[in-house]
Amino acid sequence: LLAPSSPSSSLSPPPVILTQDELKKIAAYKAVEYVESGMVLGLGTGSTAKHAVDRIGELLRQGKLRDIVGIPTSKMTHEQAASLGIPLSDLDSHPVVDLAIDGADEVDPELNLVKGRGGSLLREKMVEGACKKFVVIVDESKLVKYIGGSGLAMPVEIIPFCWKFTADRLQKLFEEAGCVAKLRTFPGKDEPFVTDNRNYIVDLYFKKSIGDLKVASDAILQLAGVVEHGMFLDMATTVIIAGELGVTVKHK
Ligand code: 5RP
Repeated sequence: LLAPSSPSSSLSPPPVILTQDELKKIAAYKAVEYVESGMVLGLGTGSTAKHAVDRIGELLRQGKLRDIVGIPTSKMTHEQAASLGIPLSDLDSHPVVDLAIDGADEVDPELNLVKGRGGSLLREKMVEGACKKFVVIVDESKLVKYIGGSGLAMPVEIIPFCWKFTADRLQKLFEEAGCVAKLRTFPGKDEPFVTDNRNYIVDLYFKKSIGDLKVASDAILQLAGVVEHGMFLDMATTVIIAGELGVTVKHK
């Protein structure tokens, strides 16, 4: 995004380079324009979704939104939303969600996603799978040619029982893609990272494309010990991408 030029000056000011967090905030605020009073809202998790939740809280406080019910996708978002005074509920009481807003780790050209590097993929998939409209908010660094193509992790939530056995089976499943499976640990510690659901996460790193995503998804889910994976296939209805040259909105 370039700073607007001043009408009184003939010289254009130098372009303003926005930080990644500022881009995330721009995408988040744009997504909140889809929110209407009376909606049941899925509240995402992560540094981008945090901006959206802050904005919803602000609009509620200003009386510009009313009768919102939020369904948080993690304990962290629950705490944030509660502290902002957003009324909260769950899928048991509100099985149909009007709109969910959440970030993503990767977005491919068909708007398939990788999510869960923040560790909340299971609750995110449950809430976002129950919504009529799922708006994904990212800065342009999240765009990839193919899922797994960023060289960063594709997370899989697994039960702790014999986690190494499950991690080995996951790695074997994607041997041809040069997969390496690593148990996620808490940053700077040797202890396994534990999800809100008391599970572990195995991060899969690929050297090549994993091929047909639906086939890959089914194969992962068939392994006993796996709870859910971070591929969100055909779920996003809208993706808002904030980049240095402006905001792009893609619809499914
Ligand atoms: C958490 C997620 C996040 O949405 C994803 O990791 C993106 O995070 P951020 O907005 O911080 O870049 O899936 O489980």
